[in-house]
Amino acid sequence: MKSSQRKNMKYLITSALPYINGVKHLGNFVGSMLPADVYARFLRQEGETVIFVCATDEHGTPAEIAAKEAGLDIESYCQNQHQLQAEIYKSFLLSFDFFGRTSSKYNYNLTQHFYKQLDNNGFIEEHEIKQMYSLEDDRFLPDRYIIGTCPNCGYSSARGDQCENCTSVLDPTELQNPRSAISGSTRLEIRKSKHLFLKLSALKDEIQSWISSHNNWPNLTKSIAMKWLNEGLKDRCITRDLNWGVPVPRSGFEGKVFYVWFDAPIEYIAATQEWALEDSAKRDWKTWWDRAEDVKYVQFMAKDNLPFHTIMWPAMILGTREKWKMADYIKGFNWLTYYGNKFSTSAKRGVFLDQALDILPADYWRYALIAMAPESSDSAFTWELLQIKVNKDLADNLGNFVNRILKFASTHFGSTIPEGSPPGNLEQKLQETCNTFVIQLKSFLRNMEFRKAAETLCSLWSIGNQYSDERAPWLLIKEDREAAAQVIRTCINLIYFYAIISKPFIPLTAEKIFDALNISEAERMKSFSNAMDLNVLPPGHSFNVPSPLFRKLDDAEIKQLRIKFGGVAE
Ligand code: 2FM
Ligand code: ZN
Repeated sequence: MKSSQRKNMKYLITSALPYINGVKHLGNFVGSMLPADVYARFLRQEGETVIFVCATDEHGTPAEIAAKEAGLDIESYCQNQHQLQAEIYKSFLLSFDFFGRTSSKYNYNLTQHFYKQLDNNGFIEEHEIKQMYSLEDDRFLPDRYIIGTCPNCGYSSARGDQCENCTSVLDPTELQNPRSAISGSTRLEIRKSKHLFLKLSALKDEIQSWISSHNNWPNLTKSIAMKWLNEGLKDRCITRDLNWGVPVPRSGFEGKVFYVWFDAPIEYIAATQEWALEDSAKRDWKTWWDRAEDVKYVQFMAKDNLPFHTIMWPAMILGTREKWKMADYIKGFNWLTYYGNKFSTSAKRGVFLDQALDILPADYWRYALIAMAPESSDSAFTWELLQIKVNKDLADNLGNFVNRILKFASTHFGSTIPEGSPPGNLEQKLQETCNTFVIQLKSFLRNMEFRKAAETLCSLWSIGNQYSDERAPWLLIKEDREAAAQVIRTCINLIYFYAIISKPFIPLTAEKIFDALNISEAERMKSFSNAMDLNVLPPGHSFNVPSPLFRKLDDAEIKQLRIKFGGVAE
């Protein structure tokens, strides 16, 4: 998009809603909330109007079962878990404008509204269906809670709604050797129950043309959408025999609720409604969702969520015949694996967000995970890779530069920036190189190419080290104090520049640097374009020497972590 077109655009950013049942792992985080946050922070810094909303996805059987296991009623369980997740995301410095809950009354109302519109427009059909009933568990087993062998790829732990291995969308009755995911029991029988179906087949052409009108989507998004379309869109059951969820307002459907995937995406809108209510004089949720030309809507999610966001959610919107905003761009991610294997809650393989924060502060994870984001293919998290990202990129490259320069400056020139001789050719060249790289960094961030953005940021940090090594102020000071002063002045300005461009990735560290440089609140939100001025902090400006910005991970600690978190052969 050209910058002239971008003028007056507003950005609506959503990341897939994390399920309520338990703290998420690094794989969930890097494929949705974290990159969405980096993008939102970058755009805000660039002066754009942004809202970034998310919520806990609270309905469905997983929540019911987790509550049972925790010995709590479902409302209390969801309340506690929502609080817990919200606190963790806060600790990771996620800058949500609103973090809601799919169990809110706003979502209930909107979900029932969507259903009524779809029904009025003829896109809902009632059918009596056969469903798996577990005699052992004394309940119907909806989709995810039936496990069996995928009829398409042979994966033996496919879920009843979707095969995680080949992403095929399934009906539970298609699974071979089905068993209950709750008890493992194979004592299942088929019983009849009345349900509602969304007529995806009747909306196929509209969905197809909506998808085709988005040539700029990433390959992953487009290919998964096309795969689903080409498999032929089957009408999809949108109700369940459960108590917990949004009640179905239709006679004969008492005691049934909407399928979790029906109400979950509607929460993107409901969360915006709640956000607007916090300051209703200034905020109007409708201006974000009325399909206005001035909103660019970007969604973030891992690949298993792509079918629902490219097919089902758009179908729901199209079928209402109302003017809801639809996604302009869908950024999908592959899997982050744990040494090549899937992160797994049940097998306790991998790292969960609360555990991660016990090991290292949020910024370390934010940077390292973005640098290993599974964008073009799956990528493997390893403790060794984390060690490289932390020790080499953060500690040696950025941290060491900041501490070395500021310490040297204060030892030799006191607590204010020295003046020194005027900048020369090398400084001119430094400025030009930084400008070239920062243009690239901005463009990678605008295009949501996160790994490349992290690489470019790290290259920019290296440029400072190369410059200071070349000018070697620690030698220069002995023969030409004025020249050394000028190098130090340049480097301190470079540190300020680094804080600005690093802020979307490592916001806490950026603040530490701003504090050390006594930067005013207003100046901390400088845009990337305005940041590159090596003379912006004038001689006489005071600074402090911060404590080291990053600690290193030594080999012994890495070994311990590998043992503690398991899943890897020695
Ligand atoms: O896969 C998941 O984690 C789902 N809870 C994502 C829901 S996204 C949305 F549509 F609400
Ligand atoms: Zn499969």
